Amino acid sequence: MRKNIVAGNWKMNKTLQEGVALATELKSAVKNPKCDVIIGTPFIHLATVAELLKDTPIAVAAENCADHASGAYTGEVSAAMVKSTGAQYVIIGHSERRAYYGETYAMLKEKVQLALANSLRPIFCVGEVKEEREAGRQNDVVKAQLEGSLFSLSADDFGRIVIAYEPVWAIGTGLTATPEQAQEMHAYIRSLIAARYGAQVAADCTILYGGSCNAKNAASLFANPDIDGGLIGGASLKAEDFCAIIDAF
Ligand code: PGA
Repeated sequence: MRKNIVAGNWKMNKTLQEGVALATELKSAVKNPKCDVIIGTPFIHLATVAELLKDTPIAVAAENCADHASGAYTGEVSAAMVKSTGAQYVIIGHSERRAYYGETYAMLKEKVQLALANSLRPIFCVGEVKEEREAGRQNDVVKAQLEGSLFSLSADDFGRIVIAYEPVWAIGTGLTATPEQAQEMHAYIRSLIAARYGAQVAADCTILYGGSCNAKNAASLFANPDIDGGLIGGASLKAEDFCAIIDAF
């Protein structure tokens, strides 16, 4: 069944103490949300925050995981380690990871498979850069990202994926995609899923929008038939802002 989700992505922000303070605020503020709520935190927060939010409506996500199962990969954190913290989700393929850390389709495919093998649900990010949109190539780019990392999964495994469409030109820039631009891409993504896995899998897939989504624009984005919520960066760093986005549902 398709779910509405509001997911935060703290990125590389907040010390452990600051993160615990924010999670504590959210714990008391988010009581009966009309959507699923997830917060994506740096690795160091996961265990503490997952414990703090146990038995609440708020689930926890890692922002990344390794593309290897275990072993001599100094500094990396495996999907099994993420799972052992109590996290239920992992963000994979964020544009910042693709751009700054050279994550390729093949690496992301490994990460997705390892996440699924460890009972984590991937939140898989796709999206075009500004030049690609200006050249009218956004559909081709997103299609290649899906095909390159996800479309070799079985239908059952694909059913555990949450997609986040995040146009790179809208991330952290204040330039939100218009509801029309976002809906158009979300419908296109759903049509690709339908062509690969059939209409039911496509109808059940949650597709989030990300990129300067905030309390002001969330309701008009979420009102569209193929937009099932948001992946929120900057506006997830303050409880009040994040709660206002949750309340858009
Ligand atoms: P933003 O980030 O909301 O700050 O634009 C979204 C994201 O990168 O997930």
